[in-house]
Amino acid sequence: MVYKIGMRIVDARFLKSVDRYEGKGREPLPEICFIGRSNVGKSSMINTLVARKVARTSSIPGATRLINLYQVDYEFEGLKKSLIVSDFPGFGYARVPKEMREGWQQMIEAYIEDNRAITQIIWVFDVRREMDPLDEMLLEWLSANGIGFRLVLTKIDRETRSAVAQKKIRFQSVTGEGNPPLLFSAKDGQGKHELLSHIARSAKSTFSRD
Ligand code: GTP
Ligand code: MG
Repeated sequence: MVYKIGMRIVDARFLKSVDRYEGKGREPLPEICFIGRSNVGKSSMINTLVARKVARTSSIPGATRLINLYQVDYEFEGLKKSLIVSDFPGFGYARVPKEMREGWQQMIEAYIEDNRAITQIIWVFDVRREMDPLDEMLLEWLSANGIGFRLVLTKIDRETRSAVAQKKIRFQSVTGEGNPPLLFSAKDGQGKHELLSHIARSAKSTFSRD
């Protein structure tokens, strides 16, 4: 079982908040982006993964307005490494005015298109929800741009085991056989080690979009 090898977090710290990609011309660290609906648990997931409270969380949707960048130092397969984690503002929050929603979408798309160091998108999805047209748009956009992503079904502590298992199978038919959804709970830490190993392996992959 590959995930037992494990990624060990050494340190994690906030770098800065940005509204565009600022790293042109610099030697980039591999970057893993956390995206998903508003209030789904992106910031909580990051905090649980790094075992520190680096990202601001809130029960009020729309807590994260800019793209927040964190540097994570870790050990994996006996080597010391670093990567960037980016915490994105949630999309699809109905109470935000239309122009602002479109602005967010443009910011997110431009950032991902400009930043060639992104090796993986972690798409955070509430296990209790179904995909709607907005999610399908995201799925199409990721596929059309050849951006590697992994769907992570979160808040699994809120559902029965059998409901979680059924959802996993159902979403796998959307994400593809070789790309099964991962399961996670920020509340009790289920799925944390599998997701960490996935992230460490993704950070090793070459930048496939160049
Ligand atoms: P925005 O930045 O507003 O888009 O939200 P976000 O996706 O970063 O969500 P955040 O991490 O702030 O969490 C939103 C709410 O969900 C908070 O009240 C969290 O405590 C709760 N939450 C997050 N993850 C879990 C989980 O795995 N289980 C449970 N039960 N609650 C969770
Ligand atoms: Mg957030």
